[in-house]
Amino acid sequence: MSTQIILPPAQRTGGLPVMEAFARRRSGRDFDTARDLDLQTLSNLLWASWGINRTKGRTAPSSHNRQEIELYVFLKSGVYCYDPVQHVLNMLFEEDLRAMTGTQPFVGQAPVEIALISDTSKITGKTPQGVIESTYADTGFICENIYLFCASEGLSTVARALIPKEELAARLALRSEQIITLIQTVGYPSL
Ligand SMILES: Cc1cc2nc3c(=O)[nH]c(=O)nc-3n(C[C@H](O)[C@H](O)[C@H](O)COP(=O)(O)O)c2cc1C
Repeated sequence: MSTQIILPPAQRTGGLPVMEAFARRRSGRDFDTARDLDLQTLSNLLWASWGINRTKGRTAPSSHNRQEIELYVFLKSGVYCYDPVQHVLNMLFEEDLRAMTGTQPFVGQAPVEIALISDTSKITGKTPQGVIESTYADTGFICENIYLFCASEGLSTVARALIPKEELAARLALRSEQIITLIQTVGYPSL
């Protein structure tokens, strides 16, 4: 089993005109459990969400350009951390932990769960409340990118705060400065 998924280069053109993507943006909680995302779609999704689109720049803004959010990608084959520089997924756990990411019935059935995990040690000079405000704002921009990409591609997605955060953080062996902010479920809608 390979410990890395090398993503094909993301396709940076195409998709729906942005106004049509806005028109279609919504939360979906019904997923075709038999249909995985192909590698190109996964690549495009991750790049659109939080990829590198210019020198030191990302597809979503972040306060002071701290880029403190990491994407942990839960697939059937395991849990991976997205490396936006190499545009690869590095395996952290060779286990299907999708069901651990939430309490709702569709969790663990949809092919992809993307956990947004903030390394708050990168946010300095702020009060504890300021850290939370900043990193949740940064989280929201990435989530909206996911929503708009999914709207463009005919994928179903929902941002989720209903997460057993303590159990999941322990299972992922997160450091105390790493916090799980939101998790976004992604898949094809059930027909
Ligand atoms: C911060 C946040 C947390 C959310 N948490 C959940 C959740 O845990 N489970 C869920 O099914 N939907 C969750 N949602 C989705 C909202 O319920 C949804 O966005 C809202 O009902 C509006 O529907 P729409 O996205 O289709 O416009 C969350 C949305 C946000 C912004």
